[in-house]
Amino acid sequence: MKGVILAGGLGTRLRPLTLVTNKHLLPVYDRPMIYYPIECLVNAGIDEILIVTGGEHAGDFLKLLKNGKQLGVRHLEYAYQEGEGGIADALKLAEDFADGSKICVILGDNILEGNIRRTAGEFFTQTSGARINLKKVDDPERFGVVRFDNDDPLTGRVVEVIEKPANPPSDMAITGIYFFDADVFDMCNQLSPSDRGELEITDVLKYYLDRGDLTHGIVEGWWTDAGTFESLVRATNLVAEGGANHKDFKPAETVTA
Ligand code: G1P
Repeated sequence: MKGVILAGGLGTRLRPLTLVTNKHLLPVYDRPMIYYPIECLVNAGIDEILIVTGGEHAGDFLKLLKNGKQLGVRHLEYAYQEGEGGIADALKLAEDFADGSKICVILGDNILEGNIRRTAGEFFTQTSGARINLKKVDDPERFGVVRFDNDDPLTGRVVEVIEKPANPPSDMAITGIYFFDADVFDMCNQLSPSDRGELEITDVLKYYLDRGDLTHGIVEGWWTDAGTFESLVRATNLVAEGGANHKDFKPAETVTA
């Protein structure tokens, strides 16, 4: 399986910091933010990685990461996203890289305590479709959120996915760690922009849900994004206290829908 890290966007929620650099190059404790998703993939044995970025600071990724060897990446590629088309628009640029294989997609500002080996393994045995990874949060209205057919994320089936709902039907956020089969690119190409003018990853998930091909796991350990000042501080403190992407982290439980 190959890995795709989406690290574009203007990072407007972190201005003025992001006026002079890309959000994913900002520090989270002792490392640039982009190191965390790279380490997460490498720890799961995914060492063929594409970074999709954009904007005027894109060249700084090459300066920082070079060919990725120092982080254990065997093969590192870069793609440049023009404009601000959203997550699913950025993902389109990964089609040649994926070359028909399954992919793990991580949003570049997502950081987690544990590793993704088990959920990646479960997706590997899934013949087709997509897999999302959920985490209970206090502020679900900030995220993509799922509705279950019962109230239990361990036994319930996901019946709806909603992007940033005003009245969330559950407190289970869809983290920015996704697994897709190669059909994802056809789906991205069929999307229309949302009200905020972007191609939404949640709309891709709806396609998979409609065809009955969406499974889910639960993220064990802490998980956070780092795209706002509050979450950037939170991420920094969590990493400072306990580190991220533990190689020997053993998740207690994951489930499939
Ligand atoms: C994006 C996705 C959202 C997901 C979140 C995870 O939101 O659109 O569904 O829950 O990442 O970090 P954004 O950070 O672009 O607002």
